Amino acid sequence: MDTIISNSPEETERAGALCAQSIKPGTVVGLFGELGAGKTCWVRGFARALGVKSRVHSPTFALLNLYEGGSIPLCHIDLYRLEGEDEVIGAGLENYLLSPKGITVVEWIERWEHFLPKPPVQYRKIHIDILNFEQRRIFEE
Ligand SMILES: Nc1ncnc2c1ncn2[C@@H]1O[C@H](COP(=O)(O)OP(=O)(O)OP(=O)(O)O)[C@@H](O)[C@H]1O
Ligand SMILES: [Mg+2]
Repeated sequence: MDTIISNSPEETERAGALCAQSIKPGTVVGLFGELGAGKTCWVRGFARALGVKSRVHSPTFALLNLYEGGSIPLCHIDLYRLEGEDEVIGAGLENYLLSPKGITVVEWIERWEHFLPKPPVQYRKIHIDILNFEQRRIFEE
């Protein structure tokens, strides 16, 4: 995926949708970017491209949102508020992070590197950098 300069939330959604076109089951997507970068926005477009009809919202409090209405089951996780490895395991997130059956998209995956997926699980890293109030640079590492 080439570097994309996004000028609006809609364009960031489109970048997510583009990534979904080349995704396979058994993949973890790590989303890197500071608070308000547009990670959840990107997931909204990603989910829509998989055919998910329900509204995608931030799993910050729920920790995990499951969307099963699309072509591949999608699990959306936000690790920002978790306080320790025990909480990751206690919340039942471990399997979704280490051995996903569908696709797991993770915001703030860098907080718990202990749970980074390893082959044969495919791990894709997407960065969203804030350039200014409405511009973002989006690229795959
Ligand atoms: N080009 C853009 N792409 C995405 N979001 C944008 C853009 N320009 C402005 N925004 C605004 O930035 C915010 C992005 O919010 P979003 O919840 O997607 O961020 P996030 O990275 O998930 O944050 P958090 O780490 O808090 O979960 C929204 O308020 C959105 O309207
Ligand atoms: Mg978010």
